[in-house]
Amino acid sequence: MNIKKIAVLTSGGDSPGMNTALRAVVRTCAYNKIECIGVSRGFQGLINEDFKKLNTRSVRGIINRGGTMLYSARSKDFRTKEGRKKAFQNIKNNNIDALVIIGGDGSFTGGMILQKEFNVPVLGIPGTIDNDLFGTTHTLGYDTALNTVMDAIDKIRDTAISHDRLFFVEVMGRDAGHIALNSGIAIGAQEILIPEESNGIEELILSLKKSKKAGKTSSIVVVAEGDKTGSNVFELAKNVEKKFPDYEIKVSVLGHMQRGGSPSCFDRVLATRMGVKAVESLIEGYCCEMVGVDEGKLTLTPLKSAIKGTSKINSELLRVSEIMNT
Ligand code: F6P
Repeated sequence: MNIKKIAVLTSGGDSPGMNTALRAVVRTCAYNKIECIGVSRGFQGLINEDFKKLNTRSVRGIINRGGTMLYSARSKDFRTKEGRKKAFQNIKNNNIDALVIIGGDGSFTGGMILQKEFNVPVLGIPGTIDNDLFGTTHTLGYDTALNTVMDAIDKIRDTAISHDRLFFVEVMGRDAGHIALNSGIAIGAQEILIPEESNGIEELILSLKKSKKAGKTSSIVVVAEGDKTGSNVFELAKNVEKKFPDYEIKVSVLGHMQRGGSPSCFDRVLATRMGVKAVESLIEGYCCEMVGVDEGKLTLTPLKSAIKGTSKINSELLRVSEIMNT
């Protein structure tokens, strides 16, 4: 198929690097004399025909900006057949030949349905801080989020040490522990609790007792949002406090600050490469893939596998963390 017009949207939770990827998509289109349409507010924008023409100048000054210039949304209407029909009508009426979707698994599921129902070619760029997609070792925003978390916990550590306190720090990761595990190692956490591996509260208490005995006067436990040791980080801290009254315990939830900020150098380079690859793949005739990266090389993975496959936790990191806690 001869691609003359591509639409691009960002969807789901925003992540640093989305704007950088958008810039790369727009400029690769221009380089190849393809018209580029920006869709505002994700799939909802497709339904509302919230379209604007983008040229190389429209994306100036955004390479270093967090968030997404196209805005993001989770569309309820797109979950209905009616909503999707409307979206397709708008795609057809505007002579759009293909779609680039920058987002996470929910966004790719939407893209896949659109491709299946109406045969619209879709190329995905993984944009989520959670790093939870199969087919790429890094999603856009993950590296930036790790650095944000590391900086924040370094600051928490200053006050933890000064007051001999035990801190439970909750980081994002509804279903995945990548942020917790990597930031936990980077900040020297006493324990790292992730959804993929649960050793229970007893193990945690043993570890804290051991560290106290070894002379540690303060500690940090990094807890992924989706961890199942307690129903939430506050309950977990309360339960530990009951069994372990020696420490003064504090909880800190880092929350949405992890999703903001200027993308790191790593994320900017990756986003630019992925943007180029997405457009070039559509030109080459690919129709339902996600761009990824593995050992420095760009890859393509069927959207279906990217969503369904699991991004495995690196067990070496778990071992490293355990050794560091002796
Ligand atoms: O972007 C993914 C994520 O960061 C999850 O880890 C988190 O649970 C979720 O976003 C929160 O999203 P929101 O509160 O914006 O719906």
